[in-house]
Amino acid sequence: MTLAGKSVIVTGAATGIGRGITECLLKAGAGITVAGRREKPLLELAERYGDAVSVVAQDVAAPGAAERIVAAAADRFGGVDAVVNNAGLARFGDLDTIDPAQFDAMFAVNVRAPAELIRCALPYLRAGRGSVVNISSAGGVLSMPGRAFYGATKAAVNSLTRSLAVELAPDVRVNALLPGPVLTPMWDETGLDTEGAERLRAGLLKSTPMGRFGEDGEIGRWVCLLLDSEVSGWVTGALMSVDGGRTA
Ligand SMILES: NC(=O)c1ccc[n+]([C@@H]2O[C@H](COP(=O)([O-])OP(=O)(O)OC[C@H]3O[C@@H](n4cnc5c(N)ncnc54)[C@H](OP(=O)(O)O)[C@@H]3O)[C@@H](O)[C@H]2O)c1
Repeated sequence: MTLAGKSVIVTGAATGIGRGITECLLKAGAGITVAGRREKPLLELAERYGDAVSVVAQDVAAPGAAERIVAAAADRFGGVDAVVNNAGLARFGDLDTIDPAQFDAMFAVNVRAPAELIRCALPYLRAGRGSVVNISSAGGVLSMPGRAFYGATKAAVNSLTRSLAVELAPDVRVNALLPGPVLTPMWDETGLDTEGAERLRAGLLKSTPMGRFGEDGEIGRWVCLLLDSEVSGWVTGALMSVDGGRTA
């Protein structure tokens, strides 16, 4: 792997898919700047992995957040070789019941914040021929009844990925991973009641040909492959499905 000694920013790193990504990157020898709102689970990562982890407790959607995260990575690791935009907000509900303010909140975290982080890291990414992976979702390409706002933000992430891949080529590669359903804390915070969440999970399992949920490490390993220029040096603008066949 060409990731040893690289400086990688991972947002939403403490839980679920972000944690799986962080652990895969650490195994590959990268130094990780981890960002998220809650400091405690991020500090636990740092305690476990020592100097290879730098912690920034930060709401990615807050003004100045991207600058602070990039500055922390540059201070600790001397620059930024890669950005993994993983932090995400999922609020579900039918069009006639969901609070439209949820759309703004999701757009700010899922779309605007990743764009801002890429923009702030750009001088470093350009200098080192770096790379970006945006964690999108199968929901960005499927119809999403009951989850239209969330799906729309992920479709926007896909569009951002493809446009920036061309805009920033050949210096910086920009790709997206589109996971299918992975059991993470996200599923407990969607705004659905217990029964609705259970019904949704059962439906997702049924519509996943591989017949099981994904695991966070299965997403993490693909992030490593996409960031590794020896494997993926000619891959940019890809919307890579890792979804047990859900979008097949
Ligand atoms: N699980 C799935 O089935 C699935 C499928 C497709 C795509 N995805 C995508 O995968 C990504 C990770 O989700 P997950 O399933 O692993 O859920 P998760 O465990 O809830 O992870 C989301 C992470 O994002 C962080 N976060 C949320 N809002 C933030 C903000 N404003 N600022 C900074 N950090 C923030 C959270 O930490 P704090 O709360 O401490 O901030 C948390 O660590 C998301 O982009 C999600 O849309 C998930």
